[in-house]
Amino acid sequence: MEIKKIAVLGAGQMGNGIAHVCAQAGYEVKMRDIEQRFLDKGMATIKKNLERGLKKGKTTEEEIEATLGRIDGVLDLEEAVKEADLVIEAIPEVVQLKLDTWKEVDGLAPPHAILASNTSSISITQMAAVTNRPEKFIGMHFFNPVPVMRLVEIIKGQATADETVEVIRRVSERLGKQTVLVNEAPGFAVNRLLVPAINEAIFAVQEGVATVEDMDLAIKLGLNWPMGPLTLADFVGLDTLLYISDYFVDEFKDSKYRAPALLRKMVRAGWLGRKAGRGFYDYSGDEPKPMRF
Ligand SMILES: NC(=O)c1ccc[n+]([C@@H]2O[C@H](COP(=O)([O-])OP(=O)(O)OC[C@H]3O[C@@H](n4cnc5c(N)ncnc54)[C@H](O)[C@@H]3O)[C@@H](O)[C@H]2O)c1
Repeated sequence: MEIKKIAVLGAGQMGNGIAHVCAQAGYEVKMRDIEQRFLDKGMATIKKNLERGLKKGKTTEEEIEATLGRIDGVLDLEEAVKEADLVIEAIPEVVQLKLDTWKEVDGLAPPHAILASNTSSISITQMAAVTNRPEKFIGMHFFNPVPVMRLVEIIKGQATADETVEVIRRVSERLGKQTVLVNEAPGFAVNRLLVPAINEAIFAVQEGVATVEDMDLAIKLGLNWPMGPLTLADFVGLDTLLYISDYFVDEFKDSKYRAPALLRKMVRAGWLGRKAGRGFYDYSGDEPKPMRF
């Protein structure tokens, strides 16, 4: 099966990145959001990111124009998916919203179309079960920022066909990504490691083992991470981190995934990381300033 036309649902952080790399790889893309201002913002981000590549000599004016020309922003769901060979969904991480959307998409997309979710945590099998094509349903987990990060985790649900996995592997490779195949499980492969690792760094700060900046420096230099775990926590968003930790405890029924009390307290205080101006660092000045706990 050959994929030519891709519908991307959501023009947010992930959706515009996915539309960007798909169009750059030569696919015809319909990018769908629910309001024109979100589409405009998504398109502006794609343009800005492509132009960054121009400054670095990675692309040309002609390529940028051709890429942008392959992305059509639409508000109507039927228009977005009616001719799609592949639908990639990147709408908010809300179970009922995803289930309702997939039910609708299943009725509107051609019968041959593959349906892929970029969810960070929601069960692929659960979403596949609301469609009439669970064998064509799959997880395609990109990383942020999509044009830069090289991994796609491919997640096989209970009913996903091997052929669907192969098609998605080929598409991901054409997008310039490397893939890993993961059987459905909470957190897939990357977040299963990352979330407990970040939580352990928070436990260490909570217990007074090291300050925020020393913990970050230790992991950055000692493990060669591009940034420390507490800086990364602030990027991810502490509310998201807490949501995933609680979800892991629910799904695995194992307290080793529990969130540190400090994380829960910070979320209750509204200290959510970069997006809130304060998390493990204070972002109100020119330079992030580590917080004391
Ligand atoms: N942010 C990350 O680092 C990251 C990484 C991997 C996966 N994800 C997953 O990607 C998905 C999207 O996350 P995001 O960070 O891009 O969120 P976001 O809030 O930046 O974007 C979501 C977009 O979806 C739009 N939307 C809402 N309902 C819609 C609908 N019915 N149809 C089309 N668009 C709709 C919103 O208006 C918004 O523009 C989530 O499932 C998230 O878990 C996020």
